[in-house]
Amino acid sequence: MNTMQAAVLTAPKRFEIRAVPVPSIGPDDVLVRVTRTGICGTDIHIFNGHYAADRLPLVPGHEFCGTIAECGANVRHLAAGTRVVVDINIGCGTCFWCRRNEVLNCAEVTQVGITRDGAFAEFVAVPARLAIPVAADIADEVLVLTEPVACVVRAARKAKAAFGQSVVIFGAGPIGNLHVQMMRLVGAAPIIVADLSAERCRMALAAGADAAVSDPAELGETVLRMTGGRGADLVIESVGNRKLYEQAFGLARRGGHVAFFGITPPGETVPIDILRTVLEEASLKGSVAGMGEDMHDALTLLSHGRFHTEDFTKASYPLEKIQEAFETLGDRPQHLKTQIAVSA
Ligand SMILES: NC(=O)c1ccc[n+]([C@@H]2O[C@H](COP(=O)([O-])OP(=O)(O)OC[C@H]3O[C@@H](n4cnc5c(N)ncnc54)[C@H](O)[C@@H]3O)[C@@H](O)[C@H]2O)c1
Ligand SMILES: [Zn+2]
Ligand SMILES: [Zn+2]
Repeated sequence: MNTMQAAVLTAPKRFEIRAVPVPSIGPDDVLVRVTRTGICGTDIHIFNGHYAADRLPLVPGHEFCGTIAECGANVRHLAAGTRVVVDINIGCGTCFWCRRNEVLNCAEVTQVGITRDGAFAEFVAVPARLAIPVAADIADEVLVLTEPVACVVRAARKAKAAFGQSVVIFGAGPIGNLHVQMMRLVGAAPIIVADLSAERCRMALAAGADAAVSDPAELGETVLRMTGGRGADLVIESVGNRKLYEQAFGLARRGGHVAFFGITPPGETVPIDILRTVLEEASLKGSVAGMGEDMHDALTLLSHGRFHTEDFTKASYPLEKIQEAFETLGDRPQHLKTQIAVSA
């Protein structure tokens, strides 16, 4: 039996590098030889035992790129050696929600590296229809950002963000920074960021924000001053804090939109003023992950250099040192992403 190296999370905070069987593929699948995998906030939650703890042992890793090692018998559009990124959201492909590209609402959905074994391993098997060939000359370190960028592409799409709209973004972490860049791309203005960290605020300004506020007491006044006293057209919560969600409704203009994006523990709620929402025609909408067209658009934008990726590409560890990579994440606030170099 063929084996591969995999980083198996056997218990919270404990990776073991193990030799495990190379996944087998069905006729409509491909086997991807993983080159690089990014560490995302969800991986940190899984590592710490705050998410999916009942699914351990698990090989996490869902932000990855690689090359096709083997194609199932029915696969025509890919061949061994093709470079790919993978849409990790595996739906049935035929239900009402899958056809609307709302794959996470599919009753059969699974996610590579979250609900099934993922890419902190040398090989991953996925349905061929979800492997996207990469034509562009783009470095692995950048290509591996396709999935997180797809999340902000989807968020912008769901919020119907458009040029000339004012935006407040709560959180300038890795994803908040990408929201700033995405809002810059759609032509939103002004872009106002709120993050408690002065360093993250500085990075948000470098990424294209017009203002970045680290003192919560100054935020309301800044938003009013920069939006003609109206409040923002769009407020994106990208922290995952119930209090900030509540505050978001107060920062949006009459008839504005609140984008639900940051992930809270289950069951958290915010009070919403019904009459105000009706009379002002205010709106809110959730957005989760990046899938289908979001992945394609993210790949296109990255391929054409539309994102500044320098702060996302410099921290890298080999697979054998994955435990150290996770344990030291907090020591590298200036690096918005730590990547695992799985194979050359
Ligand atoms: N909906 C989706 O598709 C999706 C996809 C990816 C991530 N997420 C979620 O988006 C959020 C952001 O992701 P991330 O990886 O950037 O998270 P992160 O935790 O790395 O960064 C969060 C940032 O928020 C700042 N922050 C914390 N408390 C704050 C407060 N009270 N006010 C202002 N700033 C505060 C921190 O300083 C940090 O810079 C998380 O909740 C994550 O789970 C959602
Ligand atoms: Zn992720
Ligand atoms: Zn489905």
